[in-house]
Formats: sequence, structure tokens, C-alpha cells
Amino acid sequence: MNLPTSGTTRRQWVKQFMLCSAAALVAPRWTSAVLANVTPSAPGKGVLRIKPSSFPALANPGGSIQLTFIQGIEPLTLNRVTSDRFVTLDSICTHAGCTVGRFIVANNRMRCPCHGSRYDIEGRVFRDVNGNSTQPAPDDLARYETAYDAASDTISIAIPSLALQMDSISVQQRTENGELRLKLVFPVTFGAVYQISYSPGLSSPPATIPFATTADGPANQTTIGPSVSGMFTAYVDAAGSRGFFSVSVMLTPLT
Ligand code: FES
Repeated sequence: MNLPTSGTTRRQWVKQFMLCSAAALVAPRWTSAVLANVTPSAPGKGVLRIKPSSFPALANPGGSIQLTFIQGIEPLTLNRVTSDRFVTLDSICTHAGCTVGRFIVANNRMRCPCHGSRYDIEGRVFRDVNGNSTQPAPDDLARYETAYDAASDTISIAIPSLALQMDSISVQQRTENGELRLKLVFPVTFGAVYQISYSPGLSSPPATIPFATTADGPANQTTIGPSVSGMFTAYVDAAGSRGFFSVSVMLTPLT
């Protein structure tokens, strides 16, 4: 199968694109007493949060973009159906698995380049009056649960296959003079690139922080590009008495 390659050079970090968050720390100081208050976030679906205002192509109904967060896999297609409704589709054609193109307003459809199957803006394959597909593709494109909050201008997309939970989080004593670190363990996927962010409270925007890969090594790394999929361990210096940690993934819009 041929994958689209035309836009993969343009990358950007999308700060609103959170895979997971973990552990509000409620103790007044970073002491060993914090330990009891550190708990991993509850597991669940990975939720991508994207501000449509970051993408001019989504400014109007009919707008459509394709995104990927792991190089080499088919992108997600995000379509703006109305001013306040978006759909997110798997771009894999239900005929033979080619990558369906984005929605084109002028043609009022998405089209698969391999055998020409056509889908509407919500990923429904074109059908006759009896509901049977008129296309090589037998079925609609798969959809991801998508919600839009107009007040915050945020699209939330649930991706069941995305690892999201912080597997564990614990306080580590770094040095004899009492410097403390948090040990974060979370799943990563080969092909994706990650950063760790911290915010002191729910109303504060997360900021990228450096991390170490050993308990007493220098916290001087800022990106994770895992060579294999699995659990990753990072050590972050205690930056405050409480806060939220999250993992962001590099998002690649295809153009
Ligand atoms: Fe899409 Fe055949 S793979 S139409």
C-alpha cells in the first residue's frame, strides 16, 4: 500500500495534543510524605485534543485535514461538518486498504485513489436507494469518537489504540542532600516522538520540561523517540509542590 508522503516534512508540536496526564500532588512540599499522594491517572482511551484554530483548513464547514502521529501509518482524517461538529475518520479504505484522500469541497466527497471509491464528508460510502454500496468499497470508513467544545475551541478525539495512561509515578530520592525526582513510567510507540510537560495547576498551560533517563543522570533530554514500543521511564526534577504531568506527541499534518 502506498502511503502519502507529500506533507511529512512539515511537523509541529501541538501543545493541546495530550496523550495522558497524571497525578495531582497535594502535599505542601516535595518530601517523602508526598509519596502516598502520588497516584497514576486512570486508564482509558487516549484522547487527542486539538484546537481547530491551529489549522486554517478547518476554518469553515467542509474543511478537512489529515494528521498522523506515528510515521508510516495511515493518517486520521478530520473533517468539519458544520460550524460546531467535526468527524474523525480512519483513512483506510474499506475495499482493499488504500489511503482515502481528504474531503474536497468542490467535489463534495472523499475519494480513494486506488479504485475510485467515494465517501461523503462523514465517511459514508456512496450507496443506492436500497442502502447498498455503489462503490468498490463495501462499507463506511471507521470513525473515532469526536466531540467539539466551542467555548474552548477544542476538538477531543478518542483513540482506543493509543496508549495513554501513566503506568506509574513515584517519588525518587536523587541525592543525599534530599533532591527529589519523580519517576514517570508510560507506554510509547515506535515511530512516534514524545515530550513531557508540566503544569502547576489545571488552569495553567503545560510547559515542556527536560527529563533524565536514569535516576541520578542529568535531566537534559527534551524528546523521546523510542527505538521500540513498550514502557518508557523518565525522571523529572521536582518543580513545585503540586502539579500535573502530561505526555505530548509530535503531530504531523499531511499537506
Ligand atoms: Fe479503495 Fe479499492 S482500495 S477503492
